[in-house]
Amino acid sequence: MSVHRPIAGRLVIATHNPGKLAEMRELLGRFGVEATSAGERGLPEPEETGTSFRENARIKAQAAAAASGLVAFADDSGLAVDALDGAPGIHSARWAGPAKDFRYAMEKIDGMLRERHAVTPAARRAHDGTLVWPPRGQKGFGYDPMFLPDGHTLTFGEMPSQDKHGLPPHGRGLSHRARAFLKLAEACLGG
Ligand code: IMP
Repeated sequence: MSVHRPIAGRLVIATHNPGKLAEMRELLGRFGVEATSAGERGLPEPEETGTSFRENARIKAQAAAAASGLVAFADDSGLAVDALDGAPGIHSARWAGPAKDFRYAMEKIDGMLRERHAVTPAARRAHDGTLVWPPRGQKGFGYDPMFLPDGHTLTFGEMPSQDKHGLPPHGRGLSHRARAFLKLAEACLGG
């Protein structure tokens, strides 16, 4: 596959998160798109003042585009736990604190679920999956080790990234990022 549009080679991925960057690079790489990132370019990290994933993604993309003069690509995402009314949601990164300690953030979530007597898989639903304890696996990033996607026996922390993406022809997109990317690819990269 190749890209015949000006986006190729002139794209900045608006993230400072190495885990996300690796995944976004893999996803874009399928289309022959190489990109630098906001982190690699030393661009400032904007404050995420939005009240939705969409608003925060827009803030990041606009900030990177303005600072670099390039087309920017951003994603804002997080863990949305049903029993916690969708928390941590847009605050997913912040729950890990300044040290970005996701073991601490996962313990916090597990503790809050236990306080609510949420011990069965059905009570521990998050968007598109279930939260397990203890966390499993060293792969991925963020909350991956406690997230068991629906219909699977391995957590995202136990899966190679290609399985987490779950892209065609073997799947129809497994992670939220891969599924969103497929829509973007269809709209902008010739599918
Ligand atoms: P932000 O979108 O940069 O504000 O960060 C969202 C946070 O949500 C990340 O720091 C991760 O902790 C978490 N997150 C987002 N996507 C994933 C994922 O695919 N796996 C695990 N955690 C994720």
